[in-house]
Amino acid sequence: MSASAAAKTKPSQEFARAEAAAKFILGKTKLRPSIGVVLGSGLGAFANEIPGAARIDYKNIPHFPRSTAIGHAGRMVIGKVADVPVAIMQGRVHFYEGYSMREVIFPMRVMARMGIRAVLLTNAAGGINRNFKQGGLVVLRDHINLQGTNPLIGANDEHFGERFPDMTQVYWKPYQAAALQDGKRLGIEIAEGVYAGLTGPSYETPAEIRYLRTIGADVVGMSTVPEVIAAAHMGIRVLGISCVTNMAAGILDQPITSEEVMETGERVKADFVALLRAVIPRMNKDLP
Ligand code: HPA
Repeated sequence: MSASAAAKTKPSQEFARAEAAAKFILGKTKLRPSIGVVLGSGLGAFANEIPGAARIDYKNIPHFPRSTAIGHAGRMVIGKVADVPVAIMQGRVHFYEGYSMREVIFPMRVMARMGIRAVLLTNAAGGINRNFKQGGLVVLRDHINLQGTNPLIGANDEHFGERFPDMTQVYWKPYQAAALQDGKRLGIEIAEGVYAGLTGPSYETPAEIRYLRTIGADVVGMSTVPEVIAAAHMGIRVLGISCVTNMAAGILDQPITSEEVMETGERVKADFVALLRAVIPRMNKDLP
């Protein structure tokens, strides 16, 4: 449907709610961010180092889902990173928490209504590719949706985007190139790979990891995929970065624990913060 056709239809309740939440958030700050950042498990520290930021608990934002996952503060932080106004989600909600897919992507809807046109999605992930190291960072080239559903199922609201969004360009190549280049410059080793998104909350079996490797996945996690699909729907460009918090099931002769996932996030904090600080201004120069 064309923009003029969309204008004739009434916005959905989801749209109206996203609009209300966006208005509430923007009422707490003079900044008008064009870039969103979502910090994954154990990676929330980035948002603590932003002086003068507005910090808004999810529980105070109208219609916003609350994060129940460990390692997720549940706060929106609006401030400047390297002079670029950004909206940072310190923690996200996951499908495995029992939220519907619509709820999982609601924060993306809100960020879009706030005026955000590019998003940096980060996550903790298991390393499937044997060349990856625990604690390494991986720039996402693409994903495989194995969550068994899609956040866009149901009536389409053309005010957000079209019925059948293209997924071939959502992981924006120039952002990937910028991240790899900045990594090199900063002496941070960064790999590239494909993210397999599963629902969790159980970690995978060794057989599932062998299967995921066969179908072309390099890392595995329980988030990000719905948000990327929502971003594609709304014409938002994505940079995805995984932190390999553990090697995937069956690679090492040891169980996977959420403590290990959190500890690794904490350990790579400095590299992670440096990379985000470098790449955000470059994303800001290449907005749709
Ligand atoms: N599997 C799925 N999700 C994860 C993992 C994993 O090994 N590590 C961190 N998140």
